[in-house]
Amino acid sequence: MSMIALTVNRRAVQVSAEPRTNVADFVREKLDLTGTHLGCEHGVCGACTVLLDGVPARSCITYAVACEGAEVTTIEGLDDDSVTTELRAAFTREHALQCGYCTPGMLVSARDLVLRLPQADERLIRVGLSGNLCRCTGYVGIVRAVQSVIEVRRARNIAPEPDGGRKILGPVGSGRSAHDGTYRAERIRRAASEQTLPETASSVPAIPDFIPATVLKQQFSVAHPPGQVFATFDDIGAVAACLPGASLTAPPKPERVEGAIRVRIGPIVATFQGAARVERNPADMSGRIVGIGNDRRSRSLTQGEIRYRLVPIEQGTRVDLSIGYTLTGMLAQVGRPGLVRDLAARLIAEFACNLDHRLSGASASDATAAELNGMTLVLSLLRARVTRWVGRFAPSKDGTT
Ligand code: FES
Ligand code: FES
Repeated sequence: MSMIALTVNRRAVQVSAEPRTNVADFVREKLDLTGTHLGCEHGVCGACTVLLDGVPARSCITYAVACEGAEVTTIEGLDDDSVTTELRAAFTREHALQCGYCTPGMLVSARDLVLRLPQADERLIRVGLSGNLCRCTGYVGIVRAVQSVIEVRRARNIAPEPDGGRKILGPVGSGRSAHDGTYRAERIRRAASEQTLPETASSVPAIPDFIPATVLKQQFSVAHPPGQVFATFDDIGAVAACLPGASLTAPPKPERVEGAIRVRIGPIVATFQGAARVERNPADMSGRIVGIGNDRRSRSLTQGEIRYRLVPIEQGTRVDLSIGYTLTGMLAQVGRPGLVRDLAARLIAEFACNLDHRLSGASASDATAAELNGMTLVLSLLRARVTRWVGRFAPSKDGTT
């Protein structure tokens, strides 16, 4: 347990909590402030949004200990806030909520937009709220409510605040402590410079072997002979063209490839840039690709290893895959193994489809997405799961369920 001192809704609190406790659990369980809701707990849905040092932040992926000395404002702390009062009235007027689960986070993000946006620009409001998902109301009423509050305030000559009241730059929840602000800022600066990640893939001199934290087994089949599939795997450019979101950043060599893969999950966009070592064994038509890459924006690092073996089957070729990876940094908090496993399954399904196109003589580029859209994949996974779930209750042919 650590003793954490911070200000919550203008009240100084000092409470002990586990180092792993996030801000959402901290305010809900230790302080009974249950207006902060938890939806995805992955930093995707925005239901848990609170203000940290005046800046909207995901409380489900922010550690309470990292907020030592910070000012936390939950929806309860905005009871008397004039902007939030206007927003609450507008949400009621415009029917901007049904179940209300997303509403606390939505109001916190909307308040920030009302403070900052010069005009009630629908596009900017939609972009600004894109990190807050509502699963039952839809967004028309919500956007209209936010627009109306901005319009009324600007008509009353209340000017926008360019930074929405932000007084400091840097990660939210840091550097505000009266007693250690300077020390903390210096510590963060030093840690950042010590952990500086490679600037480009070519600055990755060697690609080390490693023991993956997670290993996934997958397989797919294509209706083409193993020799043809193995020859295509030899063409790294062709393989990259079949992989959604992947691109090469340097001409590939037979034993080494440099490239990037762009992934989007809801509001999170990551571009992992890196290099990989390629090994092949024509004798048993198997191979291994070991890679390392980083996303500079989220300061996340991943090491990955793909082992494959081609097995002749009656209808063509079965490709057995073993995918191992280790992810560190901010994205590790959202990359739970179950989610990654499902995403990998969809990614491989798209890859297999594109590969099949290419082996049949069509260009895969038309079918390949510019970005691996995790949200689309997640939605299609949810659809598949709901269909399976509903199927369990569907009457069978003999009338039973
Ligand atoms: S619960 Fe935090 S973003 Fe969904
Ligand atoms: S009002 Fe129900 S999720 Fe938004």
